[in-house]
Amino acid sequence: MCGIVGFTGKQSAAPILLDGLKKLEYRGYDSAGIAVMDQAQIEVVKVTGRIANLCEKTKDGEAVPGTCGIGHTRWATHGAPTEENAHPHLSNDGRFAVVHNGIIENYIALREELIKDGYHFESETDTEVIVHLIEMYYEGDMREALIRATNRLRGSYALGVICTEEPGKIYAVREASPLILGVGVGENFFASDVTALVNYTRNVIYLEDGEFAELTEESVRIFDVLGKTIDKKVTRILWDVQAAEKGGYEHFMLKEIMEQPGAVKATIAPRIRDGKVFFEELNITQDDLKKVRKIVITACGSAYYAGCSGKYVIEKLARIPVEVELASELRYSDPLIDEHTLLIVISQSGETADTIAAMKECKARGARTLAIVNVVGSTVATLADDTVYTWAGPEIAVATTKGFTTQVAVLYLLAMHFADKLGRLQEKEAHLLKVLESLPRKIQQAIDMNAQIPELAKKYHSSKSLFFIGRNTDYAIALEGALKMKEISYLHAESYAAGELKHGTIALIEDHQPVIAVCCNPSIMEKTLSNIVEVKSRGAEVLALTFRNNQKILSAADDFLFIPEVDPVFSAVVEIIPLQLLAYYVAKENGCDIDKPKNLAKSVTVE
Ligand code: F6R
Repeated sequence: MCGIVGFTGKQSAAPILLDGLKKLEYRGYDSAGIAVMDQAQIEVVKVTGRIANLCEKTKDGEAVPGTCGIGHTRWATHGAPTEENAHPHLSNDGRFAVVHNGIIENYIALREELIKDGYHFESETDTEVIVHLIEMYYEGDMREALIRATNRLRGSYALGVICTEEPGKIYAVREASPLILGVGVGENFFASDVTALVNYTRNVIYLEDGEFAELTEESVRIFDVLGKTIDKKVTRILWDVQAAEKGGYEHFMLKEIMEQPGAVKATIAPRIRDGKVFFEELNITQDDLKKVRKIVITACGSAYYAGCSGKYVIEKLARIPVEVELASELRYSDPLIDEHTLLIVISQSGETADTIAAMKECKARGARTLAIVNVVGSTVATLADDTVYTWAGPEIAVATTKGFTTQVAVLYLLAMHFADKLGRLQEKEAHLLKVLESLPRKIQQAIDMNAQIPELAKKYHSSKSLFFIGRNTDYAIALEGALKMKEISYLHAESYAAGELKHGTIALIEDHQPVIAVCCNPSIMEKTLSNIVEVKSRGAEVLALTFRNNQKILSAADDFLFIPEVDPVFSAVVEIIPLQLLAYYVAKENGCDIDKPKNLAKSVTVE
């Protein structure tokens, strides 16, 4: 995820900006840049890759004089990770420079309008519209220009701005993206998180949505959308730096679990327009879809389980047959794939070796390829005929959480889009769109309603093995829940389709064997309930994942994880939340290295 910093004071700005950017490195990024103002001139330096490259290019900042500036680490979203797309972006007249964290949803329309008005674009980013809008609206008053420019923006943004007409001043604006001011002595700062500030000051002001700040070396002024000055409390930071890097969370995994409402929102919201699912990035026409005889989904690990849950939804809504194949198997299976196959490739990193190989194999057989990827510009994204990005931001913990839920969210959107194009949605559409839009809120509720999980972890953490059961989409989630458990807690965890128990596995059920039963699909609840009764009568302890008011399951099981009521078509993305939290707290009880489990890598670039 992008990070921004700003400094104004008596010291040289560039070394301080570079230091702040280094502190933001943990957020993940692929390019970086700074803009420093000296004698009413702005100098911009940008690089791809590491901050170390920026330090080298600027001689640790010494080559860029000036005492006021802004800096940025970029996690590519709109446009590849290149120097042109790296921030800061300059206005055409060179008087303004902008850094931005967030996404401008209406940038295409703004870009077209600005081009018509004669503005020239250097990058493919959504951000560049902002600097041109500021130039357009500037009539000698930066406050006024910022208010008018940001009034035109839809989306999320934390902005840092400098202007040659106002030497020594840095401006910051916040809307749905974190931004903090650092209040020093004879110097002031801003940054997307406190990590970048704590070396210089522990006195901070948290900006809220719709607030603007004007900083000079001696003053911090904050104003609202109408330009009215407001007073804000200065807070003293007491955290140690390490904790701040994780946003106050003990582990990145927990932080990423908590980020899921925002990540799923960022994935879904921009793709619903005028009562329809709309994919700006897809070139699949109605005729193309009519020619598709089957969809094959391929991926590895959790991404494969995301595919398993997507299969049910695509088949249910779009009525296209879907096969889900492990990439490591598909690549060597002499697959029955041709030009009538649509291959959906799912990968958080976009660099998984088996996934890339399976994709190439299927492409060679004529399949059209559609990638669901988180990392912009990755190999899978580049190879695909069509790419849909999951806007999860960087995932640092090895065990995927927000990567998985945003993949499932994209599969839901695709199911709706295909069904609509094939005329198979009709009167269901409005209701399903509402459900889709409610998912971020439901995910937040699933986080909030499970405060009992740390206690449950104390009960289950010493089990020799855990069985996860479920049916249909509940089964897909049981698979992912078991994977989360084994990879971070090192407990043996296996998932079975509940109906398969009697065909073998039930032989393993004995006194106190924990069974985690996912029962969130009302249409097959009775069936899973029978399986709960079967294992309980053989001595199992059942931990059921269900709704709070589900009396039948509540009276049959021993312990509970809850989700809020949500339409079963799209409930899987909510169901996984309590299972992620359970795995996390069990691993914590077992003293495991949660963010870096043994033997695992974040990106599996070898076969
Ligand atoms: C599990 C996990 C892995 C990945 C798998 C695929 O928590 O993270 O199972 O899902 O290695 O990785 P990507 O999605 O990067 O292709």
